[in-house]
Amino acid sequence: MTATASPHAAPPPFADLAPQNLFSLAGQVVLITGAAGGIGGALARGFAAAGAKLIACDLQPRMHELAAQWRADGMDVESMVFDVTQEDDIANAYAQVAQRHGRLDVLVNNAGIIVRKPFLELQRQEWQKVMDTDLTACFLMAQHAARMMVAQGSGRIIHLSSIMNHVARPNLVPYVVAKGGVSALTRAMAADLGGTGVTVNALAPGYTHTEFSQAKDPEFNAFVSGWTPARRWGQPEDLCGAALLLASGAGAYINGQTLYVDGGFLAVTR
Ligand SMILES: NC(=O)c1ccc[n+]([C@@H]2O[C@H](COP(=O)([O-])OP(=O)(O)OC[C@H]3O[C@@H](n4cnc5c(N)ncnc54)[C@H](O)[C@@H]3O)[C@@H](O)[C@H]2O)c1
Repeated sequence: MTATASPHAAPPPFADLAPQNLFSLAGQVVLITGAAGGIGGALARGFAAAGAKLIACDLQPRMHELAAQWRADGMDVESMVFDVTQEDDIANAYAQVAQRHGRLDVLVNNAGIIVRKPFLELQRQEWQKVMDTDLTACFLMAQHAARMMVAQGSGRIIHLSSIMNHVARPNLVPYVVAKGGVSALTRAMAADLGGTGVTVNALAPGYTHTEFSQAKDPEFNAFVSGWTPARRWGQPEDLCGAALLLASGAGAYINGQTLYVDGGFLAVTR
């Protein structure tokens, strides 16, 4: 009788295309800003689940306690507290990344703020604060990251844009302008970094339930749920799949794009 190999012992076909390999971040060093917030926290947990070594950063000192909890949950995570609008803080953070890891595979520029105020009352300082945090910080963080990534010949940069790259609402002028700038920065950086092995994309959430959003306002809450074809607000975890696509080998040929994850919000009209 001839022995035949058990079908269970056969290697899976096309192993490099199997999702567990294609979307894997095993051993990759991932830095995420605003990781103490709603979306940043979910993305950190999602990247950890894909095997990343995380550097979770935020302005809020509670980042350290949160990271300690995550380590207790089994995540490979270290934390840093610094302000992404301060160039010296940024340079210091990257010096620590270089010293501890010697490389950076993925940067997620997620830290952000919003100022809600009518255009006619807007002060220059309010405009400037949103520009500094939501746009200029993305440039500064990404330039430091790209210098390391170009030297190593690979890397992924993901900026957080918004549906406000595409539409506007009253009282959001600086935020709408900054997020439009983030998507433009994404295209412009992809052009500049062509041929280096570094990709640059933007993830653009729709209305997502966090401290930052207005989900507590009953009227607005009802508008978003009624308008969005998904008939609900986004949850921060809804962004994990798209973020992993842009960060992993699965997204190797996606570059310069703004990827909307909005439950269909932008696709419909009355
Ligand atoms: N929630 C939404 O509906 C929504 C929609 C579209 C886009 N976004 C974008 O997603 C990103 C995350 O939003 P979120 O809803 O999780 O907000 P969030 O307020 O829950 O988290 C933002 C985090 O950024 C940190 N941060 C703010 N300024 C900082 C600074 N100067 N330096 C370092 N960290 C700083 C905050 O401390 C906070 O932890 C933002 O860029 C936001 O514009 C959110």
